[in-house]
Amino acid sequence: MSVQAAATAAYIVAALLTVMSLAGLSRHETARSGVAYGIAGMAVALVATVVMVADSVSAGAVALLAVAMVVGGGIGLWRARVVEMTGMPELIALLHSFVGLAAVLVGWNGYLEVEAGQGEFQAGPTQTTVAPELLGIHSVEVGIGVFIGAVTFTGSIVAYGKLSGRMKSRPLTLPGKNALNLGALVAFAALTVGFTVAPSLGLMIAITAVALALGWHLVASIGGGDMPVVVSMLNSYSGWAAAASGFLLDNTLLIVTGALVGSSGAYLSYVMCQAMNRSFLSVIAGGFGVESGTAAAVEGEHREVTADEVAAMLGDASSVVIVPGYGMAVAQAQYPVADLTRRLQERGVEVRFGIHPVAGRLPGHMNVLLAEAKVPYDIVLEMDEINDDLASTSVVLVIGANDTVNPAAMEDPASPIAGMPVLRVWESKDVVVFKRSMAVGYAGVQNPLFFRENTSMIFGDARVRVEDIIKAL
Ligand code: TAP
Repeated sequence: MSVQAAATAAYIVAALLTVMSLAGLSRHETARSGVAYGIAGMAVALVATVVMVADSVSAGAVALLAVAMVVGGGIGLWRARVVEMTGMPELIALLHSFVGLAAVLVGWNGYLEVEAGQGEFQAGPTQTTVAPELLGIHSVEVGIGVFIGAVTFTGSIVAYGKLSGRMKSRPLTLPGKNALNLGALVAFAALTVGFTVAPSLGLMIAITAVALALGWHLVASIGGGDMPVVVSMLNSYSGWAAAASGFLLDNTLLIVTGALVGSSGAYLSYVMCQAMNRSFLSVIAGGFGVESGTAAAVEGEHREVTADEVAAMLGDASSVVIVPGYGMAVAQAQYPVADLTRRLQERGVEVRFGIHPVAGRLPGHMNVLLAEAKVPYDIVLEMDEINDDLASTSVVLVIGANDTVNPAAMEDPASPIAGMPVLRVWESKDVVVFKRSMAVGYAGVQNPLFFRENTSMIFGDARVRVEDIIKAL
């Protein structure tokens, strides 16, 4: 068997491992094996690529590849070790931007080697040749690859900026923003047609510039509340960018895995849009059709309670539902929360968790934290499973959650989060909200829940406050 054939066989094995990885990752219980399959698939693909390069190019190229792998692998290992769980979404957004940039570079390389090489530009010894009748197809691949890559690149950088707090999470509303997006798409189509007919450096630069600007504008126009969908959408774009690179590099593994990531990311975004009652098209088109309304002003007085008072409330309760949010992750309060759960259960109190699909900053954020603290899966329920039981619950503890329990989503049509399904915690007998101040949540809207008669606020770091309650119990 030739080295090329062996590498192709290895690529098929790697692609199958990727499919098994995705299947494993879709359930809690099998997620670990899903990750293991993914690592194995990547390892097989890397070895096959290195062997193929060693066989077909020079030893110098293998040395360069080895240096790139050591540097890239080292940085990856270091970041994965030091990243906080709360910093995960922005790290993912940054990694998507690398995939986008790689696709842009592959596209430019394709242009320099083929289209430019046919005329004024002579590339090096590895010059690729494309049959004249296939040149048009190659040019379309270059245009589309650069376009998807550049949109993913700048879009992911803006997502990184918003998620890490380096950029404001408010949507950018330029006049005629929808026309701008549509205009950029039309310009891209026209430029690609022009590039296919008569490739030129000027058109390459124009396609890249239009796509970079569009990616930036698309994500900048999306408000904080819709960022989860955007992160998963960019994940999908990065898959399509990788697949486009696969066509240019004639690499089946990139095409298969890119398409898998692209389609599963798109499906996840669709499911998340449904969970948030958002139009899928409106989110991927940069907030198309979303009017930025002004939420009704929230007024009233809030009531503050101490840890001792909360302990007394819990002592009298027969059922408790804990609703965690991003603040639980920030405070790393999952461990005392798990401890509190065990203590209440020992006293015969029924304790369950209600998880909103977009609680925290990435899909499944709360489930991962609670699993880490060894909270049993069977008491961790999805929003739809617990919402109807909230009215018959004695006490709901809202721990560092805000937007996901905001009644304005159901009651104020002008609210930026109007229509988003929320946990109806206010229907329970008593609600206790753990947070550090009266500040707004991620979507930037005030929460009328804090001013309701059956709501009490307990201020301070959630971890410290839950520990105080355990002591008082
Ligand atoms: P948020 O609405 O962001 O509210 C978190 C609350 O936690 C804040 O009100 C904050 O109030 C409090 N907090 C922060 N640190 C705390 C600490 N150390 N101790 C106690 N409280 C603390 O969170 P949520 O309810 O989980 O909603 C998630 C939001 O993030 C949604 O808008 C969602 O769309 C968005 N988002 C979600 C994702 C995914 S995929 N899940 C990704 C990106 C964005 P104080 O500052 O007053 O303490």
